[in-house]
Amino acid sequence: MSGDEREIESFSEREARAEIDRLHGLLSAADRAYFEQDAPDITDAEYDAMKRRYQAFEIAFPALKRDDSLSDKVAGAPVEGFNKVRHAVPMLSLAKAYSDEDVADFIERGRRFFERDKDLKLAFTAEPKIDGLSASLRYENGVFVQGATRGDGTVGEDITANLRTISDIPHKLWGSGWPASIEIRGEVYMTMAEFEALKARSAAVGGQEYVNPRNTAAGSLRQKDPSVTASRNLKFFAYAWGATTADPAPTQYEAVQKFGEWGFAISPLMVRASSADELIAQYKKIEELRSSLGYDIDGVVYKLDNLELQRRWGFSSGEPRWAVAHKFPAEQAFTTVRAIDIQVGRTGTLAPVARLAPVGVGGVVVENVTLHNEDYIAGIDSNGLPIRGDEPIDVRIGDTVVIQRAGDVIPQIVRVVLEKRPADAVPYQFPHVCPVCGSPATREINEKTGKEDSRRRCTGELICAAQAVEQLKHFVSRGAMDIEGLGQENIELLFNSGLVKTAADIFTLRDRRTEVQAAFAARREEQSRQREAASGKTRKATRSVEERSFEGLDKLFAAIDARREPELDRFIFALGIRHIGETTGAVLAKTFSSMAALRERGLEAAAAGGELHEVFPSVNGLGDTVWEALRDFFENERNVAVLDSLLEQVKPKDYVVTVSATSEVAGKTVVFTGSLEKLTRGEAKAMAERLGAKVAGSVSKNTDILVAGPGAGSKLKDAQALGILVVDEDQWLEMAAK
Ligand code: IVH
Repeated sequence: MSGDEREIESFSEREARAEIDRLHGLLSAADRAYFEQDAPDITDAEYDAMKRRYQAFEIAFPALKRDDSLSDKVAGAPVEGFNKVRHAVPMLSLAKAYSDEDVADFIERGRRFFERDKDLKLAFTAEPKIDGLSASLRYENGVFVQGATRGDGTVGEDITANLRTISDIPHKLWGSGWPASIEIRGEVYMTMAEFEALKARSAAVGGQEYVNPRNTAAGSLRQKDPSVTASRNLKFFAYAWGATTADPAPTQYEAVQKFGEWGFAISPLMVRASSADELIAQYKKIEELRSSLGYDIDGVVYKLDNLELQRRWGFSSGEPRWAVAHKFPAEQAFTTVRAIDIQVGRTGTLAPVARLAPVGVGGVVVENVTLHNEDYIAGIDSNGLPIRGDEPIDVRIGDTVVIQRAGDVIPQIVRVVLEKRPADAVPYQFPHVCPVCGSPATREINEKTGKEDSRRRCTGELICAAQAVEQLKHFVSRGAMDIEGLGQENIELLFNSGLVKTAADIFTLRDRRTEVQAAFAARREEQSRQREAASGKTRKATRSVEERSFEGLDKLFAAIDARREPELDRFIFALGIRHIGETTGAVLAKTFSSMAALRERGLEAAAAGGELHEVFPSVNGLGDTVWEALRDFFENERNVAVLDSLLEQVKPKDYVVTVSATSEVAGKTVVFTGSLEKLTRGEAKAMAERLGAKVAGSVSKNTDILVAGPGAGSKLKDAQALGILVVDEDQWLEMAAK
């Protein structure tokens, strides 16, 4: 690059866009020469300088970042282990519009292009731009045969098995009239509710960290095991197509409606319009609905409606001329990182939080933002990919950062402004000891993958005050023991004043009424002192306040007493054993029926050390991780002591199996085999269990019903040999409906 380049600051937005496009073209050409033709045509230094300039423009003009940004390229490259799929028709990106003027320009370009067709009235479609990942699904004679990611647009990854788990994607097209061969294209995404639920499930068991719905959807699609993808409940909107033996319909709008008839989910917000004003009206409407949709969108896509005219208008520099993505302004702001604090969670996870100079973004003031984990701060996400740009950029105290509220909810750092980094800023040193108790904080190695966990964990367990207090908060929480009136603040007060050290102490509080009373009174006094200091006025404590507090205590003790005989599944979950969430707690309750049985087998497993399967029964759906977590729990004498003193206070009810008498399948043992078309495996299993049936993994003489889909093999033969009732998916659904 020549040394006499213009300063970025002197560029207008329009000029900057042209410059980003120019650099993008040059860098892509250099990439092709280097990677594909093995014939580099510029020096590494020239390439690097060009790349730096490109990235500097993206930082200075975040709104101009292209969808196919070279900075994100690593994340789009096929991951090892999946077969590559070459797209017969490339998966393109879209030109962008950032203003009403840009939209008017787009319409005007169309008008000029078709100028000679005097009577032509151009119609367009407008629909949300979903913030997910595009996928291409090939249907041969109506049957889904192969699905792939976009990859670099030309070559993607074969993720057929994973895409099959998405309920919005039909395994067979419905109805008729579809082309003999067609690639349906659209966006895979995760709803915010699903994302939050997954995060909560993971946090409850000290599991993996998830950054945002889009990355999580991407990670969920790249799973080796499709049942993991299935558990993520991904969604899909169909909005385009690739190679096809016939146009699905004469217009874009009708084509997408056809997709709806063929069994796909399609956006209900797609409309037809014929002027810039109408398109912009739909943009505004969608923007207003944005926060209530339940999934992330980042703009509105306009497409010329008539397919014949689309073909005539054509493509330029890898983008259709006949479509444009009108982006929502990003809700972003600049601020600085004042400090990085570490919070210690219930399972000992060290969670870094950036303390920011307060800044308003999209209507709220943001002061804290999660930095997720050590790798994130260093610039690498949990898949080992750089989080920001090609080069991992670490976050340092003193840095200026761009923050944004993803999906209007979770604030996150999107970029570090390197140009503004103070000269004395040093890389953040993630602590290797727990900041609360001083125990070593380590990163565990996942035995299966051999990879280091992304989080560092305090090894202090219950000697760590932070873990102990978080465990107590978990114990009393809604899904666990659900003790009313014992919220987070009260737990902290009781813990800090030494009145509650372990869960058992909660149940003896009544015996220490005077001390509890004193602790609450001290807090009240402290609070009113603070209020007075803030307002400059003094106030007398009134008698009624005292009286109310007595009543409050009685209520609290009553609420505690009400939980002395908890359901077994709640109690197991409340123990806060790693990897044992609500669902697993319920499975364990069902498996062991009583706490005494679970305790006994746990202790046996701990004594046997390692030989889990001899001691624990084999139960569907519970993996080694759970059994090992249980064994580890019982191996720790402190845990057993705490559990035993708790069991002196609390008597969990034995688990009684209640069989739904109304369903025909209640009490039956069911095995699923072959591929199911209407239900995912997960759904089928959940449905069977809801109806009181037991789902087994293999056929034996105890099997009552085999549900066999296409492709059923040895299980079907075994069932036939044993004379077991065999039904197909439809018959099963009928039985289940009775
Ligand atoms: S149409 C040739 N429609 O945006 C046109 N794309 O910038 C193909 N996207 O890679 C794309 N919602 O991942 C289209 N309603 C929508 C979309 C959409 C999201 C994504 C898609 C594509 C990117 C293009």
